[in-house]
Amino acid sequence: MPKAVVLGAAGRVQPRDRDRGFATDSTRLGGIGQPLALLLKANPLVTELGLFDIVNTPGVAADLSHISTPAKVEGYLPPDDGLKKALTGADLVVIPAGVPRKPGINAGIVRDLATGIATTAPKAFILVISNPVNSTVPIVAEVLKKHSVFDPKKLFGVTTLDVVRASTFVAEILGDLSKAPSVVVPVVGGHSGVTIVPLLSQSSSPLPASFASADLDKLTNRIQFGGDEVVQAKAGTGSATLSMAYAGAEFATKILKAIAGEKGIVAPSYVHLSADAAGGEALKKEIGQDLEFFSSNVEIGPEGVAKIHPLGKITEYEQKLVKAAVPELAGNIEKGVNFIKAPKL
Ligand SMILES: NC(=O)c1ccc[n+]([C@@H]2O[C@H](COP(=O)([O-])OP(=O)(O)OC[C@H]3O[C@@H](n4cnc5c(N)ncnc54)[C@H](O)[C@@H]3O)[C@@H](O)[C@H]2O)c1
Repeated sequence: MPKAVVLGAAGRVQPRDRDRGFATDSTRLGGIGQPLALLLKANPLVTELGLFDIVNTPGVAADLSHISTPAKVEGYLPPDDGLKKALTGADLVVIPAGVPRKPGINAGIVRDLATGIATTAPKAFILVISNPVNSTVPIVAEVLKKHSVFDPKKLFGVTTLDVVRASTFVAEILGDLSKAPSVVVPVVGGHSGVTIVPLLSQSSSPLPASFASADLDKLTNRIQFGGDEVVQAKAGTGSATLSMAYAGAEFATKILKAIAGEKGIVAPSYVHLSADAAGGEALKKEIGQDLEFFSSNVEIGPEGVAKIHPLGKITEYEQKLVKAAVPELAGNIEKGVNFIKAPKL
């Protein structure tokens, strides 16, 4: 205990690589899955690590298994019930499977993987990384509901990359990157574009007094669209993978600590607001709409979401951001829910 499983653990093998005969090169570090699996293998809280993907997992698992940390690693492919074997006994399942910026394809992949979780590991904590998180998390919820195993306390959309970016960018502005690990900025709402709402007024390290409203616009926009910065720098060959793997491992570590009984674990995450009925209702009042899912600071205990925190005191500027996020989010949630009824995204 505990067993962590990564679904989509191989990282991408691009067609170009296949042409060059690299398709079986399992040591090539690419995508989110491989570095995420590496970080989880390096985490002494993990005692078993199951890896599943449609390619390469036996190689990735063999490679990781030589690392001198406690986790026993096994890699599975789809034949011979691989998904079922990977998920058996899982306490925590992280899903980075998919294709970057291909929402329709990801919706189907996530639906199928969620079906596997519903039938094999219905009590596991589920951490969804595959985009669009605003819609893929509702998809997972709908699949779990269909199988009558939905526990809203254990389903999390991973928005940690936005939080990590906010901490880093604020530390950069303060001119002291050594502050990056300790700067805490709640990022609420959802996980794409304008649905990402950084509450910079609540930053644990306040922004400089000289920070003008144009600077605030620029910083907010950089946090909301940080992914584009990476896509452009990678010249279209990929999106954020290493920073996402770091962020995913950060959030998974919080869950592992909560499972181990550590108290006071709080982090923003995109959750079903029934996970804490009273907290969820209070939050709906704050945002002025009856949304099913929203990301806010969430307290996590051994059974999952223990409390959904309110947004608290926010500025007029931040209120406007929330107002812009809500309708977009409502549409994204509806798309996810409808995908299970009529598969289109
Ligand atoms: N939440 C976030 O902040 C965030 C950030 C960046 C990327 N993403 C998303 O994460 C996902 C993965 O991105 P990436 O860059 O690692 O992509 P990638 O293509 O490098 O890796 C995806 C992996 O998923 C695997 N896969 C595909 N179909 C599968 C299936 N049915 N079962 C199991 N594995 C399957 C692929 O073989 C590949 O190894 C994308 O949806 C991307 O948009 C999320």
